[in-house]
Amino acid sequence: MAGAKNMLASFSFPHKEMKTTINTLPVYPLNYQYVSGKTTTFTIPSFHSSCKWKTGCNLKVVKTSMAMEEVKVDASSFSKLTATVSIRISKEVNLVKKMIKSFPWLYSRNDSLDKFVVKGIGFQLVSTQLDPSTMKPKMSKESVKEWSKCTTDEKDNDRGCFTFEVELVIDADFGEPGAILVRNNYEEELYLDAISLEGFFHFSCNSWIQPAQTSKQRRIFFANKVYLPCQTPKGLRDLRAKELNNKRGDGNGLRLPSERIYDYDVYNDLGDPDKGAKHARPTLGGERNPHPRRCRTGRPSSSTDETMEKRIDTLISSIYVPRDEVLEGARRTEFLIGTWKGLLRNIPPLVATSRKSEISRDLSDVAGLYKGAPQVDQTSLKGFGLLNFLDISGYIKEIFKFETPKNILSGDTTSYVRDDELGRQTLAGMNPISIERLRVFPPVSKLDPSIYGPSESNLKEEHIIGHLNGLSVQQAIDENKLFILDYHDIYLPFLERINAQEGRKAYGTRTIFYLTTMGTLNPIAIELSLPPKDGSNIPSRQVLTPPVDATTNWLWQLGKAHVCSNEAGVHQLIHHWLRAHACMEPFIIATHRHLSSLHPVFKLLNPHMRHTLAINATARESLICAEGTIERDFSPGKYSMEMACAAYRDWWRFDLEGLPADLVRRGMAIPDESKPHGIRLLIEDYPYANDGLLIWSAIQELVLSYVNHYYPEENVVISDKELQSWYSEAINVGHADLREANWWPKLCTPNKLTEILTILIWISSAQHASLNFGQYHYGGYVPKRPPLMQKLIPQEHELEYAYFMGDPQGYFLASLPSLFQSTKYMAVIDIISAHSRDESYIGEIKDVITNWSGEPNIIKAFYRFSMKIKSIEDEIKRRNADMRLRNRCGVGVPPYELLIPTSKPGVTGRGVPNSITV
Ligand SMILES: [Fe+2]
Repeated sequence: MAGAKNMLASFSFPHKEMKTTINTLPVYPLNYQYVSGKTTTFTIPSFHSSCKWKTGCNLKVVKTSMAMEEVKVDASSFSKLTATVSIRISKEVNLVKKMIKSFPWLYSRNDSLDKFVVKGIGFQLVSTQLDPSTMKPKMSKESVKEWSKCTTDEKDNDRGCFTFEVELVIDADFGEPGAILVRNNYEEELYLDAISLEGFFHFSCNSWIQPAQTSKQRRIFFANKVYLPCQTPKGLRDLRAKELNNKRGDGNGLRLPSERIYDYDVYNDLGDPDKGAKHARPTLGGERNPHPRRCRTGRPSSSTDETMEKRIDTLISSIYVPRDEVLEGARRTEFLIGTWKGLLRNIPPLVATSRKSEISRDLSDVAGLYKGAPQVDQTSLKGFGLLNFLDISGYIKEIFKFETPKNILSGDTTSYVRDDELGRQTLAGMNPISIERLRVFPPVSKLDPSIYGPSESNLKEEHIIGHLNGLSVQQAIDENKLFILDYHDIYLPFLERINAQEGRKAYGTRTIFYLTTMGTLNPIAIELSLPPKDGSNIPSRQVLTPPVDATTNWLWQLGKAHVCSNEAGVHQLIHHWLRAHACMEPFIIATHRHLSSLHPVFKLLNPHMRHTLAINATARESLICAEGTIERDFSPGKYSMEMACAAYRDWWRFDLEGLPADLVRRGMAIPDESKPHGIRLLIEDYPYANDGLLIWSAIQELVLSYVNHYYPEENVVISDKELQSWYSEAINVGHADLREANWWPKLCTPNKLTEILTILIWISSAQHASLNFGQYHYGGYVPKRPPLMQKLIPQEHELEYAYFMGDPQGYFLASLPSLFQSTKYMAVIDIISAHSRDESYIGEIKDVITNWSGEPNIIKAFYRFSMKIKSIEDEIKRRNADMRLRNRCGVGVPPYELLIPTSKPGVTGRGVPNSITV
């Protein structure tokens, strides 16, 4: 081993079992090789401060360094190896019994098989070498172990976790173990955590094993070693291909909850046409409504429309995801508790609303929803049966209350968002990725003018000139002082249909901001557009400017509320759902179908795919489905998902999903190679971008080291068949509606692979975190961030104008969602803003040692990455305390914490999980 110094010590193991300390240096684990039959060399992972040895052999440490030792072993006497196996039994769901009950014809007992099966778990070791006489892999004999007879720590037992040992007998010339085949002869599924062979060879299994009764094939688990397809040892080649085939399935039939098949389908399961036309929804995916694909379930068609998948009854069943993707343990429990808590929290407003003749117009009702807020008037609730039953008739107990969101903890008690806060949140709020630099004034629409009217906006120089600090409009543009939130083009084509829905009224809004000398954004004009009516081809457009009197004050507040409701829809449907959740799913499916667990790219991406398919399936069950949360709570209503499809068709580009490219696309930065990230921000204090770039660069550096290690040359990328199939299928099948686009990066060099992987890891970690975990703290006080509006702004000739004149605050509150609508929305964003206790955060390296044992350079790269992420956390905290940074620090200003890498469980408003888990 290069650079290693001779070691003085040597060890000799007696024939009986014993323990010995080899090395206690807390350094990187390194390579090992195992060749039985002759004297051979191990490089022992130095994290093994002790190891067990059962048979007679001599170990002699011949070399060592700070990080490694090589050990010469006379292995001629090896015939038995000890495997330490960790398993888990589900205490939540007896899936097999449930399945047999639901699908009895699929699980008819095979008596002839049962007769010969010994209860227990069967293990058979597979060598990396072929047997020259049969040209098949060398195998150990199958060892069957009855784990239930093993003694286990009581605490582990209570958690359903068990560890036991199995002896595996191998021939003297077996060679290096490369895989292990496992058969579950019990009647219930069990979860195989890991297998460790003699403490040196690790198999990170992390998978449910179905009973042999229901799943005849033995499961294949590979040792934690990485091979490109062309490097696969001969003994593992067939198994590698077989395992991928198993996960691909044949594309037919109903998927059962126990299966682990990854396949694609369109979103034809969001509606329920069998319940009537009102519940029907279009298919997402295809020419009409382009959309990324989802995981195929194979459910039968609905009775009334054979192009639609039948809905399931979510009370008794769940949408299929491959078995290992199902939410379990703490995460599942927390999700259920959150759901129940949400339901409880809706009771008081439901009762209050049902007792009042009209929706609440009292801000104290809203304030009363939060812990620590003044009590609401309960007179209207007295005597109501349900509350009496719950013994809360005199007051609302704490259990029914919400945490106070951070953005109202700061002492801002206005009922609407302040101008400065609206500007600040475009840079440091829950949606910091819509703001763009204004490059042309007046702004121009890209919509077809023959349908939507003239493309020029009604914004005029006179609307904004007074707010430009003496600059002309062109000077302000040239000096990068003007910015815009432009929701005109995404909303306008849908407005007629949106506004025809009861209780929903929206505009296509444009908001112009001026960059102050303090580095903050100030809104200086809002344009509100409605589509052309009565065949006139002239859209209705009004422009609001900052208030100068009482009337314009209330008009301005209403205008900002409409901007916020536009933004809530774009944030949820496009940036959060489409760009993060939905666009990642095809890449995850393709990864499982085409990249073996032996593949370095699978290993790299694996932590970034955790729970995403399950959470997306849950979204199809209750969030994005017909009459689900999204339709119920956001202005676009039943047209919500069609809006997401329009954005996917007209706007989404994978190559621009990386942070620097996105910033440049929006004009928020310009390329500048002299800067650390290759770009220069045009608003220096842009908290999302500044913090995000640190994380982006750390990910990029890790991925670059990783890719260069496994792909030293172009032709290695090009000739990697698994890699090419993975990428090709993710585009051509998973993103089939955009497969012809010319902007997909070509996967032909290590740099392109680095770019693609960096984008995927960025989206699934920091990008999603920045969009997801601020939803409650920024959106939990509905008057400031309404997700929908019920009224348009009154016009002087309209009857409602008199009401507005007499009671502007009443009109404002009546335009917002009702109290009951608000609490339903708050309950949902509270659940989806929460971290689970089992969250895995970016920079955590707990599995790195076993996953890349034998790869010192890779482990070092992960350690460097982890250190960098830690330092980013410190840097973000430092920035949040810097009074010069007005967008993240100031009187009553909540610090920008959404990209702080770590978090405690719960709704913390910080923390970057590795994957999209909620
Ligand atoms: Fe999310």
